[in-house]
Amino acid sequence: MSANTTTPPGPGTSAPGEAVVPLMRGVAVLRELTGAGGAMRLSELERATGLARSTVDRVTATLARMGYARLEGRDAILTPRVMELGNAYLAALRLPALLGSRADALADELDESVSLAVADRDGIRFIHQATRRRAMSLSFRIGDLLPAERTAPGPLFAADWTDADWERWRTRRAADPQDRGFSAVPAAAPHRAPDEDFVRRAARAAAEGWALDDQLIEPGLVAVSVPVRDPGTGRVACVANVVSHTSRHTASDLRDTLLPRLRAAVTAMERDLLQAPAAAPGPSPAGLALWTGASKQELGREFIESLARGLTVLTAFGEGRAELTLTEVAKATGLARATARRALITYEHLGLVTPGGPERTFSLTPQVLSLGFPPLSRTTLPRIATPHLAALAERIHESTALAVLTDGGDEIQYTAGVAAHHVMSVDVTVGTRRPARVTAAGRVLTAGYSSGGEASAASTVPDAGFAFVDEELEQGLRSVAVPVRDRAGRVVAAVGVATHAARRTAEECVRDLLPEVAATAALVESDLRVAARFTRVALS
Ligand code: PHB
Repeated sequence: MSANTTTPPGPGTSAPGEAVVPLMRGVAVLRELTGAGGAMRLSELERATGLARSTVDRVTATLARMGYARLEGRDAILTPRVMELGNAYLAALRLPALLGSRADALADELDESVSLAVADRDGIRFIHQATRRRAMSLSFRIGDLLPAERTAPGPLFAADWTDADWERWRTRRAADPQDRGFSAVPAAAPHRAPDEDFVRRAARAAAEGWALDDQLIEPGLVAVSVPVRDPGTGRVACVANVVSHTSRHTASDLRDTLLPRLRAAVTAMERDLLQAPAAAPGPSPAGLALWTGASKQELGREFIESLARGLTVLTAFGEGRAELTLTEVAKATGLARATARRALITYEHLGLVTPGGPERTFSLTPQVLSLGFPPLSRTTLPRIATPHLAALAERIHESTALAVLTDGGDEIQYTAGVAAHHVMSVDVTVGTRRPARVTAAGRVLTAGYSSGGEASAASTVPDAGFAFVDEELEQGLRSVAVPVRDRAGRVVAAVGVATHAARRTAEECVRDLLPEVAATAALVESDLRVAARFTRVALS
């Protein structure tokens, strides 16, 4: 039994008396937003959660203050920062960090998608995806939950199910015959497979050590799976999957040709797990409680402190911090023991935390990924940057843009842009190219390889981390840009603003605009760091 040791409450189970009601409401809002693809009208949220409008307003204002959502008109939209909740689970689990590169290498070798999934109650949840770019590929996102019986990894996990697990599965099947509770999969066919089919598949999977999915999710989609066992306990830690389409491989084809290579990769993964050094605990996010207190002071009634404090409890977990005692959670978050305890009780009730081991510890469950992760797991740098560019454009009343270097390296291309409302505003249409040499963004992006001598001294200061270009591209056009760096410190894009010489002097551009542009780039970098920890964020 891997992740199936807790029985989350059914819909009718009432919350324990000590549960923190505002935290339950916040989690409900995050789950609804996630299921809806990351954005919802506030009125829809009201309907979906059954909460009063004033409560929805306060919950979303609190999430916005935490940087987990933003409010745009009458919509609430999840932001990349909310991925830090799922990141806490994935970091604590360690499997993506230890096995992800093997999965990626196998995907390259086979030219097919490869994924890793863990058990989540009577479902499976993806923790890693190495996908191919193809016209025809249905691929799931990290954090997506699938019904076990419609997948290849499902029978491998079910091989370890207890009677209670089977009972729960039968109850769910009877209550939800069309799989409406699984927003990532198409509705089950009207003549779905009988329960006995899955019982047989689980028995076969146990005997053979692999399993197939022959178009159980959707016509054309096939998969073959092999369990990756924890060398310490011998239990299934996760399942590795190769996914294809019947236009390339039939299910029996997958078994005959790709299964042997999947097995070889899994053998290597198990060796990696055996040889992995003990997890090094990262720094704990101490001091969070102080921050929430300050926000309460500032925002008053609109800020629900118990929600903010409760959510920080999830971020106490991480690499080398997979199992924490109440004392450790309180210490990491700066919360009073009683506050941390009530948050943990609430999370246990919600199925997000499970008590484990004789040491009185708690750990996160895969359900933490249902708090915002899937809709954001395929985000791009332009999407991350756009709200920040819009906020900047509104503050300084100038056009703002994100740009990358084109393949040749002598041009830049805008990948996101927000135009200022001026008669004379700079065109920052996405896709527009400009010579790198005479744009501030271009100077920033080429600073790495151009020799200092060839740049005009008056306008380029790459060492200072920004570039200023004065009327070189076009008369009257002044631009300032700063680099955007990824987690590894590589410059991957530039954020820039452009203004007209009549509006600001060269000195004013540097004095007034540069700090604003730099602050915007810092926000983009911070989102990128969170989003790219366990997912690949496309740069354009
Ligand atoms: C996937 O990774 O997309 C996948 C894995 C196993 C399945 C179906 C899809 O059975």
